[in-house]
Amino acid sequence: MDTTSARLGTGQASWLDWLDDSQLGLAMRSELWLYPIVEVVHILGFVVLVGSVFMFDLRVLGLSKDIPVTALARHLLRWSVAALVLIVPAGLMMFTAHPHDFATNNIFILKLCLIATAGLNAALFHVGVYRSVGRWNTRIAAPAIAKVQAVLSIGLWVSVVLCGRLLAYT
Ligand code: HEM
Repeated sequence: MDTTSARLGTGQASWLDWLDDSQLGLAMRSELWLYPIVEVVHILGFVVLVGSVFMFDLRVLGLSKDIPVTALARHLLRWSVAALVLIVPAGLMMFTAHPHDFATNNIFILKLCLIATAGLNAALFHVGVYRSVGRWNTRIAAPAIAKVQAVLSIGLWVSVVLCGRLLAYT
């Protein structure tokens, strides 16, 4: 059993081996332009996602109070969902280039946990305080819990970007 198999268990190591040996993994490592192009797609995707999330969070925190929260949510939600279509496949493609390294990298695992936490925070916002948005839609301060969730959201997404950037150095 090699070191990765010993650390991850044979089952997990075998799908990582399979990814490592796949045509895609090989192409991502050997084609000069493929990895950088996929990385640019990943970056464009998370710029749109994190940008639209920030615009919404800043509105909840009290900026541009003339814009109805519901109108902004309707507009930005579409962009953040569309951005996932770029982010996730590009992230998975980069993962296939060095699956063992990423799967055992604590920063990568932390990044995925932070993404899950940010997603949970957004879901709780929508099923929770957002239900009362009719009362604070325009020119009225959002409830404290909404502001706490907006600050949390900004902090989580900044941490995700930080972890993503740190991957190049770990
Ligand atoms: C959803 C929000 C996400 C954000 C904000 C994000 C952010 C980042 C950032 C900032 C980088 C560094 C880019 C660079 O330095 O050029 C990066 C790289 C990377 N991301 Fe993501 N990412 C996200 C999702 C994902 C997902 C879902 C996966 C995989 C399942 C993933 C896998 C990767 C990989 C493998 C790298 C390459 C690291 C390297 O080559 O050094 N990312 N990401």
